[in-house]
Amino acid sequence: MAEHVSILKSEAEVDARIKLMGEQISREYAGKQIHLICVLKGGSFFMCELAKRITVPVSLDFMSVSSYGSDTKSSGVVKIVKDLDESIQGKDVLVVEDIIDSGRTLSYLMEMLRDRKPASLKLCTLLDKPSRRVVSVDVDYTGFQIPDEFVVGYGLDYDQRYRNLPYIGVISFD
Ligand code: IMP
Ligand code: MG
Repeated sequence: MAEHVSILKSEAEVDARIKLMGEQISREYAGKQIHLICVLKGGSFFMCELAKRITVPVSLDFMSVSSYGSDTKSSGVVKIVKDLDESIQGKDVLVVEDIIDSGRTLSYLMEMLRDRKPASLKLCTLLDKPSRRVVSVDVDYTGFQIPDEFVVGYGLDYDQRYRNLPYIGVISFD
């Protein structure tokens, strides 16, 4: 089966959007330090680009989760594969994710992080597929809302490939 990727958001569009998000976040966190938490692996490309556009002091940490259940459907029960290195207690935490789909992973993760008593906890996602939502999640910053299509690039994978594409593409098979 041949795979085709067609561009949904070009490199220039993604870069311009992330620049604007960085400016907005810098304004809203003026006078504070932001503790960015990247959800691996998908969030890594977005977090690096976003962090470069933030002008207030930033610290970084990484977390890796996997959801129990079939490969195609997240169950809502999330296993922590790699936990944070540092405590988030008292910090202004901004979680950085690649995409919110059903919302199961993030609603679980945000609740778990809230229990660790950060000073504040917000969520930033590059992509959102609102039509797919099963569990509601409060998203504070969204790059793009997209239709219900399987996308790759900018950290997002299909079978662990395509993460390195500098744009967001829709994958199709024929
Ligand atoms: P959910 O919101 O719990 O359903 O799961 C979100 C996770 O599913 C994301 O962090 C991605 O890893 C993955 N995912 C959802 N939609 C896509 C897509 O279109 N392309 C690649 N990965 C996706
Ligand atoms: Mg992910």
